[in-house]
Amino acid sequence: MPLVNLRDLLRDAKAGGYAVGSFSIANMEMVLGVLKAVEETGSPAILQIAEVRLNHSPLALIGPLMVAAAKASPMPVAVHFDHGKTEKAIRQALEIGFTSVMFDGSHLPFEENAAQTAQISRLAAEYGAACEGEIGAVGGSEDGSEDIAIHCTDPAQALAFYEATGVDALAVAIGNAHGNYKQAPQLRFDILEQVAARVPAPLVLHGGTGILPDDFRRCIRLGIHKINIATATFDSVERFARAGYESGAIKGYYDLQTAEVNGAYANAMKHIEIFGCAGKAD
Ligand code: 13P
Repeated sequence: MPLVNLRDLLRDAKAGGYAVGSFSIANMEMVLGVLKAVEETGSPAILQIAEVRLNHSPLALIGPLMVAAAKASPMPVAVHFDHGKTEKAIRQALEIGFTSVMFDGSHLPFEENAAQTAQISRLAAEYGAACEGEIGAVGGSEDGSEDIAIHCTDPAQALAFYEATGVDALAVAIGNAHGNYKQAPQLRFDILEQVAARVPAPLVLHGGTGILPDDFRRCIRLGIHKINIATATFDSVERFARAGYESGAIKGYYDLQTAEVNGAYANAMKHIEIFGCAGKAD
């Protein structure tokens, strides 16, 4: 059961009361580490890359690798284009075979965000792919280059946005932010509950790094079924590499490569357990 549509993964997650981890990757080693965890735990998963990361990992190279890895996996894996900003890059991802794209118009006025997201949703549908939108503003930015202020989602606006765009998944802002939190975030579960009561689409939690396990579980109970993890993966890979050099375990390039795979694997294992998606691959 290889490359799958995000819509199918999230429909099952919603029915089963769990969340699917959407793991940002930057190279082959991270893909291998995440898929090793997925296979060992019998879990569905999402591999993703954000548009701002493409200067380090060109889409024309990393994209086909992600799609090929998902196709080769015995577990259901969706390949997702995260925080799409331009139609050009989103179209390129769809041409490569991504089964899901996000258009991030959260910085735009409501009408413009809705109109542009609806257009990307129609484009994704032409490729049989799913579309994620965002309403409200998640703090920070995916690569830490911008200090975007948190603006919590207005539940009534979330419904209007969903109806205007027909998105398959909706990212909400409930006090979450990208990158490492200076202190554990105070999530607005009340807002999440109100959005989930109005919007039938599965909800998405960005800024997964640093959210406490119990807060993750509470979010899942309240309607979050896709959780984005980026910084925690990169930090884990770096930590494993550094520890390998410090202990002398890394003696050459291939040891470094193994450490990177292991770093991505350890981080994915931890989150798969918290998200309750282990054993949910069938
Ligand atoms: P973190 O870097 O906080 O894990 O956020 C990831 C994310 O939301 C990617 O879209």
